[in-house]
This record gives sequence, structure tokens and C-alpha cells, in this order.
Amino acid sequence: MTLSQHLKPPVPFSPDVETIPDDEAETITELNETMGKIRQTTFENSGHAMRSVHAKSHGYLVGEMTIEPGLAAEFAQGLFAGTGTHPVLMRFSTNPGDILDDKVSVPRGLAIKVLDVNGPQLSGQGTTQNFVLANGPAFTVPTPKKFLQNLKLLAKTTDKGEGAKIALSATLQAVEKVVEAFGGKSGTLVSLGGHAETNVLGESYFSQVPLRFGDYIAKLSVVPISNGLTALTDAKVDLKDKPDGLRQALVDFFAANGGQWAVKVQLCRDLESMPIEDASAEWTEDDSPYVTVATISVQAQAAWTEARATAVDDGMLFSPWRGLVAHQPLGGVMRSRKSVYEKSAEFRAARNGRPVEEPTSLMGLPI
Ligand code: HEM
Repeated sequence: MTLSQHLKPPVPFSPDVETIPDDEAETITELNETMGKIRQTTFENSGHAMRSVHAKSHGYLVGEMTIEPGLAAEFAQGLFAGTGTHPVLMRFSTNPGDILDDKVSVPRGLAIKVLDVNGPQLSGQGTTQNFVLANGPAFTVPTPKKFLQNLKLLAKTTDKGEGAKIALSATLQAVEKVVEAFGGKSGTLVSLGGHAETNVLGESYFSQVPLRFGDYIAKLSVVPISNGLTALTDAKVDLKDKPDGLRQALVDFFAANGGQWAVKVQLCRDLESMPIEDASAEWTEDDSPYVTVATISVQAQAAWTEARATAVDDGMLFSPWRGLVAHQPLGGVMRSRKSVYEKSAEFRAARNGRPVEEPTSLMGLPI
């Protein structure tokens, strides 16, 4: 029996796979207010407007994404129904809204912009597809409402007591090791600083929450595959007295090496075991394995420079809602990201006096 023979067929996309709670609009208003407080605090303290979360970048890579030739019809959907190669930009980050010493060890993000994409756009304009990913297969909480509760607590710690955060992070990393030794993983401990001090390049990154995949529904992941990158999975980075040690490790690697990642897709094959509205539910690979639909290749380059940081951090926005109608974000967490990302970017544009735009080419990106 082949792998596909015991799998259920993919669930067709239709708008009624989503269920919108009555109070969702209020939750989104409060999310915007709370994110607004975080960015206002960091702006007042630094004089520069930054992302409300994922403010600290560790590197920007320019490369290309090649769509896997000969994909089966269920995987040849949306962007991946095409053939050939697209320019891509990758931004690595960690999740707080303030710029902390990397000793405060927190979850990691990877945002990707794919250029020269054909097809109707969610915003009605542009030619990009954004994928906004983090290093875990599912979100920490099921709903935007639950996320709001946690965010309100987190917002109170913005720009307060970095020394205390470093100490707390060290304790949480130790506790997290004990939790993991017993086969667990605590999203709360990890997001408060309990993440292991490992190289961001060794991580696998996930959409965590679903998106439309043409005729179907899917989650997406980006996984390191070249030997140099896979050797960095779980590799410890020495962060003692190196507040930007994660960035330095990334820059050092790409000064001398290129790298490759597989872009993978997990189709929804059962709405009960692979739910749309519970963002914390991991879809198991027994129900539906991740399948490679494209490869990202990057050559050696200067991965972090002041000029690149200004161009990408100030001049761009990565949002799951910047992309094709064929990849419409799905579920409560995704719906609530729509206005929150735009408002965060509007704040940056207004305060920094620089428009935030979708690029039409990466040729002019400074090095
Ligand atoms: C209700 C849920 C969420 C809210 C309200 C939220 C909010 C935000 C906001 C306001 C930004 C900054 C936007 C900007 O100024 O450009 C951001 C960035 C980011 N978020 Fe989320 N987010 C949510 C869920 C997620 C999830 C599920 C993931 C990962 C799977 C994620 C990963 C990221 C990453 C990687 C960035 C940085 C993007 C970049 O490099 O520019 N977020 N988020």
C-alpha cells in the first residue's frame, strides 16, 4: 500500500469551513489597542517605530524559490500550480516587541516574501505572496481571545527590566528542559524566555494556522535541508556577553555558505482532527504528512547590514494577508491578524516618515 492510499482525500475549501464568533470584532479592537500600547512604549523609549512584536531581526536573505516540478494535482495549487522560480526575501526574528539581549531566549519567526506571483490578490493589488511563520507546529493558544489575555500580560513587561528578563529566561530554560525531559513542551514557558539558546538557522518554521490552498486547505512549513543548515538544528549558540549573538551566528554562517530549505504543505483531510478554528491543535502527520512543494536556495551574502535593516524593518510589512486569494488565511487567529498587522505597519510608516510597501523587485535591496 502506498502512503497516499490510507490517507483521506483533502477537504475542499469553502467559506463555511470558518465559524466567526459574535464577539470577534471586539477582540480584534482590543488586540489593536494592546499592540498599540506595546509599539507606543518602544517608540517613546527608542525614538524609532518598530514592529509591535517580532521587532528584533537577526538576518535578511535574498534568494529564489523553485516550484517542485510534476506535483500531484492536490499539491499543484495556488502559487504552486505554476512552474519555475521566484525571487524571495526571508526575515528572521524573535518575538518580543522590544529589542532584548538574546540571552532572553524566546521563540523565533521567519517571514518570507515571494515575488512575481500571478493571480488575484487579497488586497486587490500587488504581486507578492507573504508567508509568516514561527518555530513550532501550532500556535500557543486556540483563539485570538485567549491570545489577547496573554498579550495584555506581556504588554505590561515591554521595555521593563531587561536584567530581570535575562534572569527569568535562564530559570525558564532550565524548567523547560525538565518539562521536555518528561516528554512535554510548555508554550507559555518558552514564550516568556524558556527557549533553548540555539541557532535560528537550524529551526523548522510553520504557518501554525491554516490557509486556503487553492481548491483545498493547508498548513505550510519551511524546513532546512542543506547539510550546513541541518547541522545547526539544536546547535547551541554562545550568547554570553553577546546581546546580538543570534544575528552574529547567522551573519557568520552566510558570509561563507549558502543554504537550502524545503517548502512543505500539509493538506487538511479531516475537519474534526485537523480543525480550522483551534489554532493550538497540531495536525498530525499520521492524518496528513507534510509534502515538499518547492525549494528555497540562498547563496552566501551579507545577511544583516544597517542599510538592509532600514529597508526591510522600516520599509516593509510581512503579513499573511498580503498574498493571493488562493492562499486566504483561515480561522480566528488568521482573521484577527488582518487589521492588526496593517495598523502596526501604518504606525511605523507615520512615525518613521517612510512608506511601507510591497517590493516589486529585490534588485535594489541594499547589501
Ligand atoms: C492573533 C494572533 C496574532 C497577532 C495579533 C499577531 C500580531 C503581529 C503583529 C502586529 C506583527 C507586526 C506587524 C508589523 O508591524 O509589520 C506581527 C509580526 C509577526 N508575527 Fe504575528 N501575530 C499573531 C499570530 C502569529 C502567528 C500564528 C505567527 C506564526 C505562525 C506569527 C508570526 C509573526 C512573525 C514571524 C512576525 C514578524 C514578521 C516580519 O518579519 O515582519 N504571528 N504579528
